Amino acid sequence: MAKDHVQIFDTTLRDGEQVPGCKLNTEQKLIIAERLDLLGVDIIEAGFPVSSPGDFKSVDAIARLVKNATVCGLTRSVENDIKVAAEALKHAIRPRIHTGIGTSDSHIKFKFNSNRDAIIERAVAAVKFAKTFVQDVEFYAEDAGRTDNEYLARVCEAVIKAGATVLNIPDTTGYCLPHEYGAKIKYLKENVKGIEKAVLSCHCHNDLGLATANSIEGAINGARQIECTINGIGERAGNTSLEEVVMIMKQHPDLNLDTGVNTKLLYSTSQMVQEHMGMFVQANKAVVGSNAFAHSSGIHQDGVIKNRETYEIMDPADVGVTESAIVLTARSGRAALAYRAKNVGYELTKLELDTVYPKFLDYADTKKEVVDEDIHILMKQNQIKL
Ligand code: KIV
Ligand code: ZN
Repeated sequence: MAKDHVQIFDTTLRDGEQVPGCKLNTEQKLIIAERLDLLGVDIIEAGFPVSSPGDFKSVDAIARLVKNATVCGLTRSVENDIKVAAEALKHAIRPRIHTGIGTSDSHIKFKFNSNRDAIIERAVAAVKFAKTFVQDVEFYAEDAGRTDNEYLARVCEAVIKAGATVLNIPDTTGYCLPHEYGAKIKYLKENVKGIEKAVLSCHCHNDLGLATANSIEGAINGARQIECTINGIGERAGNTSLEEVVMIMKQHPDLNLDTGVNTKLLYSTSQMVQEHMGMFVQANKAVVGSNAFAHSSGIHQDGVIKNRETYEIMDPADVGVTESAIVLTARSGRAALAYRAKNVGYELTKLELDTVYPKFLDYADTKKEVVDEDIHILMKQNQIKL
């Protein structure tokens, strides 16, 4: 049975770039946009054109450059934002305007000093106005995670009628639990008239560490677009991490969902974004962290040396990592020492291994990690030749 395609909407250059200290210049944004296009994402959110002349310039340059992906610009439900975004996107082969407004009671009261009906009117007007420039209009119901489902369904129905082709249901504050977010998507699928004309999209923030789980739960319940960033960068605790959702769909064929992402480019893309943004992922970051395919305890190393599948649920080559790392520490066993020694040219006999292993443990107790150079020192101290 053919798998359902989940569109990958990358917002590294918009929501990701909102992070303090992550500012990129136009040239850097072009390099990243070109890579995202090669990676195979479906949509690149290039920026928020009305926010500054620099952002306008970057969105315009990305729109001219990108050949495959849809190029999207963010706006508020404000006519001038939409006009400026349309201008910035006019050279895109596939332009999309992403407009929207806050729909939770807290946003309606404190941000807009308004009421539910008036918000629907503004949303509809924004979508209709965006439609005068482009066919592809995505609507976001900001803080949908904390918006009452019945009212959210009314908003969705109204903007679909006005011409929205994608409905973004953001958990802006990262508050939802996976089952709640999944139930929200299911509710909209079942209760919004005209929903078959639009794609539901997940846009989850990571304040409670649930962005990836919520996005996957959304897709399981019928969303067919996930909004995410490379390395999960974004406001506060970040957005859904692109590499995580893509690999979850790849590694779980039972979900029957797939993406068009070339996973072999994930690791190098992650590195590229880290370097340009000066924001580095933690070693234990899923999929792209430096320890994601490193094994350091003796029990795990012994298993991985016998067969990688004992402790790895992904092939590192699938994400562009050349091989799993057997890290030598004082927790490593004989198998790991023999394996690493062999890699640098020492075929240890049983007797040699018995002799050198206790010395290795003493040596390793004095260091965080035993590297290749240390192996040479140890072998020399024990008269073991290459
Ligand atoms: O988190 C959010 O709600 C957003 C919207 C502007 C799409 O980023
Ligand atoms: Zn966001």
